[in-house]
Amino acid sequence: MAHTIVIFGASGDLTSRKLVPALYELHRKGRLPPQVRIVGFSRSQFNNETWREKLAESTAHFLPKTFDTAVWGAFAGSIFYHAGDVERADALASLRSYVDELEGGGGATRVYYLATMPRLYDPVIAGLGAAGMAGQSRGDCRIVIEKPFGTDLLSARRLNQAVHQVFSEPQVYRIDHYLGKETVQNVLVLRFANGIFEPVWNRNYVDHVQITAAEELTVGHRADYYDRVGVLRDMFQNHLLQLLALTAMEAPAQFEADAVRDEKVKVLRAIQPLTSEEVASDTLRGQYRRYRDEPGVAGDSETATFAVVKLRVNNWRWQDVPFYLRSGKALSCHTTQIVVQFRQAPHMMFAGGPRAASEANRMVIQVQPAEGIQLHFHTKVPDAGMKLRLTDLDFSFRDKFAATMPDAYQRLLLDVMHGDASLFSRADEVELAWKIVDPIQDAWDNHHWPPVELYEAGGWGPPSSTEWMHRQEREWFDSCPMLK
Ligand code: BG6
Repeated sequence: MAHTIVIFGASGDLTSRKLVPALYELHRKGRLPPQVRIVGFSRSQFNNETWREKLAESTAHFLPKTFDTAVWGAFAGSIFYHAGDVERADALASLRSYVDELEGGGGATRVYYLATMPRLYDPVIAGLGAAGMAGQSRGDCRIVIEKPFGTDLLSARRLNQAVHQVFSEPQVYRIDHYLGKETVQNVLVLRFANGIFEPVWNRNYVDHVQITAAEELTVGHRADYYDRVGVLRDMFQNHLLQLLALTAMEAPAQFEADAVRDEKVKVLRAIQPLTSEEVASDTLRGQYRRYRDEPGVAGDSETATFAVVKLRVNNWRWQDVPFYLRSGKALSCHTTQIVVQFRQAPHMMFAGGPRAASEANRMVIQVQPAEGIQLHFHTKVPDAGMKLRLTDLDFSFRDKFAATMPDAYQRLLLDVMHGDASLFSRADEVELAWKIVDPIQDAWDNHHWPPVELYEAGGWGPPSSTEWMHRQEREWFDSCPMLK
């Protein structure tokens, strides 16, 4: 079956930075299904030739190691462009005729990719419905929706309703690009393809879990978007809660979209949203010192660029095991890690043995950029009496597998074409995540607690974050992985 991918918002950054390079890579590796057409749609005035030229340039820029003019030449023949304003019915009718003609009356799986500004999601979806483009009589028809999926529970619900007026849920693919990362999928493999971890993956052995997504970058040219959104909506509602769900979920019976998503949903349901008093005690927020000087940021902006949130998963496996989520911009390095901190040995017979909880065993899942897993444990220092030292078993994807790690969009685009929604968020999942995030954002905005603390760029957020963790008798695992 042929495939037609229609990209709305084709002249935007996401298309040239992520989508087209990912499709090019899939073509280069021979992974694309036969007969894939890519149709760009946006208001900018390109024709096929000028758009292909622009994409050749950007793809060469983003893929300096693998871009090859001859391979691009073969790929570019399947790229087309149609100009129009998504908010006008006649433009969508004209797009419909254009795509029908390209497909030449044969059937094709259609994929509509919303890479537009979020305010255009509603008009595009309604427009596709009105133009009769969501039907499946001549092949499957799917819609891919980028984040942010709403800005709170209410807007996410409204968007889900608008989507469901035109598309049924199995046609809908809500992107969270973290789920396309190899190491994130590997959390499932680590947990459910190995027998030795699951028996200790619970409250009996685990003291707490830390999930950190640190970025060295500042908001840069995205301040316009970011200042309205902040770190909680930008990183926690989607990426961090997804990582939490994968770390905490029960084993699904099959690796199949609904089975996996059912288990993630159960975890999100087990998280009791914080009361406004708990927001004061169990969250922290910060802003990097020069944030208000960024172009596009209000001089009195209270937007958090750093946050810590402590959540509890109320079920038999995780009762009383805190999950600490932390993310921020302008931190000391770019690293995403899941740290499973195990409990201390029940009795320490070695005088020089570990005493503090932070010295107990831990597993560190390096999501990026030094993809791998480390298991920390104590060993005897040779020839030094009974001196002990914390050391680690260090597994690195790059060492073990010669292949480079593919960008998440390759996997996600391929899955959409194959109709596999396992790595996409379902409607209920997105709404549950907002139910957890909304009360926090609400207390921050309306009660102004906890205060926004300024922090210097290049560290691990406000100093109070370290002190706060110490008060819990725990320590952050602040570590920038070595890139080999
Ligand atoms: C995006 C956020 O979803 O994820 C960005 O909007 C953030 O603010 C980015 O920088 C981080 O993605 P990654 O893949 O670099 O960790």
